[in-house]
Amino acid sequence: MVNVPQTIRWYQGDLYFLNQTKLPNEVIEEKQESIEQVWDSIKQLKVRGAPAIGVAGSYGLLIGIRDKTSLKISSFLKEIENCANYLDSSRPTAVNLKWGLSRMINIAHKFLGENSKELFKVLENEAIKIHEEDIQLCLNIGKNGVSLIKDGMGILTHCNAGALATTGIGTATAPMYLAHQKGKKFSVFADETRPLLQGSRLTSWELCKSGLDVTLLTDNMVAHVMSQGIIDLVITGTDRVVANGDVANKIGTHGVAILAKHFGIPFYVACPYSTIDFNTLKGVDIKIEERGSNEVLEFGSFLVAPKNVKVRNPAFDITPYNLITGLITEKGTIHPPFDENLKKKYS
Ligand code: MRU
Repeated sequence: MVNVPQTIRWYQGDLYFLNQTKLPNEVIEEKQESIEQVWDSIKQLKVRGAPAIGVAGSYGLLIGIRDKTSLKISSFLKEIENCANYLDSSRPTAVNLKWGLSRMINIAHKFLGENSKELFKVLENEAIKIHEEDIQLCLNIGKNGVSLIKDGMGILTHCNAGALATTGIGTATAPMYLAHQKGKKFSVFADETRPLLQGSRLTSWELCKSGLDVTLLTDNMVAHVMSQGIIDLVITGTDRVVANGDVANKIGTHGVAILAKHFGIPFYVACPYSTIDFNTLKGVDIKIEERGSNEVLEFGSFLVAPKNVKVRNPAFDITPYNLITGLITEKGTIHPPFDENLKKKYS
């Protein structure tokens, strides 16, 4: 049993998120009192990471509808759809949010009863199922990826695709946690991942806490460190894998993949099926979230650029399939050609 921080908790009909914006300075759990608060927690990245927001959205829907069970079933169903659309508008890139909400809506439409309270119970059970499944998916990704990690390796990761991005042992980190548990000796290199520092604040925090050997890098060190021959493997997570195998992940991932190709280092992406979007054919069709300029202008809340300078802040980029060695999934590792092999695995 790997001991990791708990990002989301559903307890006696109430929802709690670990506020990740405070890490690593403070470890604070916040009760979610309203659907607006859930929306805001997702938007502000208090809860973040593709699989985690899939689970957060599913429970968040329950918060939105829990006081409406006195409605007739047809009005209750309408309310469920409105709440799901509202939560889905909080972040556009990770497909897991839509995936979790669609799963909830589908269950609601299959319900044949007339009692809204009963339907609420059915939806609560579904959200719990989505949550429990996420824990198991992470574990299976770990089991399928662990053999990639050999004694003495240096493994680079970008952003946080760890326990904090999921409700289990992470996606990219899952093979690392299991390899560490088996006693393998290896080093992890975590890119700090500007602008919001998920690599330094979150990945290095959770891996250090579990006793893994972690070295923190600023994002502009990757080429140099790779040129020194100390990186043998890259594993990242992803927010969306599309039909041709292109992946969206935190801004900077594309650059890391190009460098890995240049230095002949295998580049793996870890993901559960809930992150695979067969309805989108190519990476260019993925909506990339553009976030506020203050995230770039400030370091913490300290101004590090003139206030009036123009800023770009795309939160994600697209890594083309031809830079990816393999996709580590709960069903095994998928190799190119991804368009064919993804379909074979998931049809
Ligand atoms: O903006 P964030 O922190 O939600 O971005 C998270 C990432 O890009 C992760 O790498 C991705 O969600 C994969 S998580 C298992």
